[in-house]
Amino acid sequence: MKNFFRKFHILFDKKKRSKHLRHRNMWLSTIRGRQILHNLTKRRPKYISVKNNALPTLEWDTGFLALDKRDSNIDLDPIIHKTERIISDNKHYIDAYVAAHGKNPIETPEDVIKRSNNRVSGKPYMVTLDLEPYYKHVPFIKLALNKEIVSIVSDYLGEIPKINDIRLLHSPNTSMKGGSQYYHYDKDDVKSVKLFFVLSDTDPEVPSLRLISTKKSSEIMEDYGPWKPFFRFSDEYIESQTEPSDIVPLYGKKGDIWLADVCRCLHYGSRPARLPRTVLWVMYLTESRYKFPMRIHGGKKPDLRKHVDWKLSEVEKYMLSGPYI
Ligand SMILES: [Fe+2]
Repeated sequence: MKNFFRKFHILFDKKKRSKHLRHRNMWLSTIRGRQILHNLTKRRPKYISVKNNALPTLEWDTGFLALDKRDSNIDLDPIIHKTERIISDNKHYIDAYVAAHGKNPIETPEDVIKRSNNRVSGKPYMVTLDLEPYYKHVPFIKLALNKEIVSIVSDYLGEIPKINDIRLLHSPNTSMKGGSQYYHYDKDDVKSVKLFFVLSDTDPEVPSLRLISTKKSSEIMEDYGPWKPFFRFSDEYIESQTEPSDIVPLYGKKGDIWLADVCRCLHYGSRPARLPRTVLWVMYLTESRYKFPMRIHGGKKPDLRKHVDWKLSEVEKYMLSGPYI
C-alpha cells in the first residue's frame, strides 16, 4: 500500500500538489471535516503504550498539561544554558527579523477569514531559529525522546508518536500583528501534541499561552457551524461563547514544560508583554498524518536520526524517522 502512495504522488505536478494540500487544509478547517479525517486515519497503536511514570496524564477531554521543572526528573539546566547562548548568538538576526516585519499591517481575524485559501505568511511576532547547527552540541533530541514525555504523549495519541519537528521559537512580544496571536487551531493534523519547553521567565501578568480545553473547544466549533471553514476567532467572539474559567492562562517560568494538543484546543500566544517568550517546541504527530490519502503528494520527510551519534532503540528510531520507513 505504501508503495502505491509513493508511486502515485509523482503523478502530480507541483500545481496539483499544492491544490491537494489546500484541499486537505480545507477539511482541517472545518470541525466536521476534522471528525471525518479522524475516523479515516485511525490506526491501531503501532506499539503498546509505554506508560510507566508517576506524572499526570494528558486527558482527551482536556488536551493540555502544564508541568513544572520539579515534576520531571529530566536534567533541564544544560538545555536552558545552551539555548540562552543560541539566543544571544542570534540576537542580530532576531532584531533584524522583527524590524523587517515591523511594518506589516495588523491582520484582524476577519482579514484572515476573508482570505479563502488559508495561506499564512511569515510570522512577524515570532522568530524561528534553525537548530540544525546545534544538534550535535545540545541535547534537544534527547529531551524530545524522554521516556516520561513520550509515555504521556503515546497514551494521549493512542500510538507512539513521530517527532516531526524541533524548533526554537522566540517571540519578542512587542506588538500585536495578527495570525496566531488570535484564537485558532493548528492545522497539522486532527490530533497532535506539542511540547513547549519554556526557556525564559515570561511576563507574570500576560499569559504566554491561553488555551481552551478540547471539550469546550469542540462545543464552540459545533456552535459556530461544523461545516464552516474557520481560521481565527476574535477575543470578543470567544468571550461570548465561554465562561472566564474555560480559558486557561499559562504563565511561563524557566524550565516549565507544557504539553498541548494545539490541533484540538483553541489557543493563542505571543501577545504583547513586558518580557519576550522563548520556547523549545517539539511536535509529536501520529503516523496517519503521513499516510492519509490526501497527502499522496508526499510531504516533508523529517529524519532526525542523521543528527544522532548514539545507539537508538527500535522505538526511538521509529519516532525520529520520517514517513514510509
Ligand atoms: Fe497555534
